[in-house]
Amino acid sequence: EKGTYPHYMLKEMDEQPGVVRKIIQEYSNEAGELTIDDQILEAIKAADRLYIIAAGTSYHAGLVGKQYFEKLAGIPVEVHISSEFGYNMPLLSEKPLFIFITQSGETADSRQVLVKVKELNYPALTITNVPGSTLSREADYTLLLHAGPEIAVASTKAYVAQVAVLAIAAYVTGKSLGKGVVLDLKQELAIVANGIQTIVDSKDELEQIAEDYLKIARNAFFIGRNLDFCVSVEGALKLKEISYIQAEGFAGGELKHGTIALIEEGTPVFALATQEQVALNIRGNVKEVVARGANACIISMEGLNEEGDRLVIPKVHTLLTPLVAVVPLQLISYYAALHRRCDVDKPRNLAKSVTVE
Ligand code: M6R
Repeated sequence: EKGTYPHYMLKEMDEQPGVVRKIIQEYSNEAGELTIDDQILEAIKAADRLYIIAAGTSYHAGLVGKQYFEKLAGIPVEVHISSEFGYNMPLLSEKPLFIFITQSGETADSRQVLVKVKELNYPALTITNVPGSTLSREADYTLLLHAGPEIAVASTKAYVAQVAVLAIAAYVTGKSLGKGVVLDLKQELAIVANGIQTIVDSKDELEQIAEDYLKIARNAFFIGRNLDFCVSVEGALKLKEISYIQAEGFAGGELKHGTIALIEEGTPVFALATQEQVALNIRGNVKEVVARGANACIISMEGLNEEGDRLVIPKVHTLLTPLVAVVPLQLISYYAALHRRCDVDKPRNLAKSVTVE
């Protein structure tokens, strides 16, 4: 039930700090340490390569998950769009493990890949919000998102849950493989939950940003580098799906390879700057678009912020920034859609679970 909320989407965005806390709790053992099921851990450790298969927002979570498994556990990862993988399977490694990320557990594009994977006798793990869903039943293993039902077509809390569960799985694997993982993920995730809370408590500011940048916009761009790039594509998907504003998310460095031709007087460009390694580069990209008339909205992080940044998100561990940085983009999209009187929870032409290929 959405109770006093005008939309499920708003309620579900507000639930995100609680979702992260719930995941910490669900994935902690009696000693209070983060853990995943032993069998799943062994299956991940036995793989020479992970193949993440997903669609839409879940695919975007997979892009972040790749970095977690590679950086924390040292396991190579490929991320594939289900509908592409299904009809054009790449050469596989000798011992692949397939990881299906799906909020609903019912997405037909992903399921058809799972069916093929099982025919080939490869192991499969489903990360889903819905216990007993088709992709959970048909895979060998399941990790649950514990996000509670997600009703709005636009996925918000499930994305945050997917990224958090992927972080935990990669972290636990890295520790078990003796990869010298130094961060205290449990503590860092608790900091993330508080950071998300700060953002969802800044609704007035985010509504104002939507008004200032998107009121009359026909299109919008989202740029970032490294993990911020992964969040940019998710921000663009959120905006287009609920506000019908044409949006594109891409890597900052790609601007000069074509997209910058589209920048005109007043074109909104949302730039994420949460990654220290590439902070200067992304700020350079912002200068390039501003010089061509763009209306740039820089979203940076405490410690990396500069004067003129429109929003500064609370500081979190550099690997975990997607969990927090995605939230302002969700809320900006929400308000942009509201201002345009769009049906936020049920955007045109879309279904919550896409059960046709
Ligand atoms: O249930 P799934 O995670 O498999 O769904 C995948 C996509 O259909 C889904 O994420 C879709 O892109 C959302 N509407 C995005 O907000």
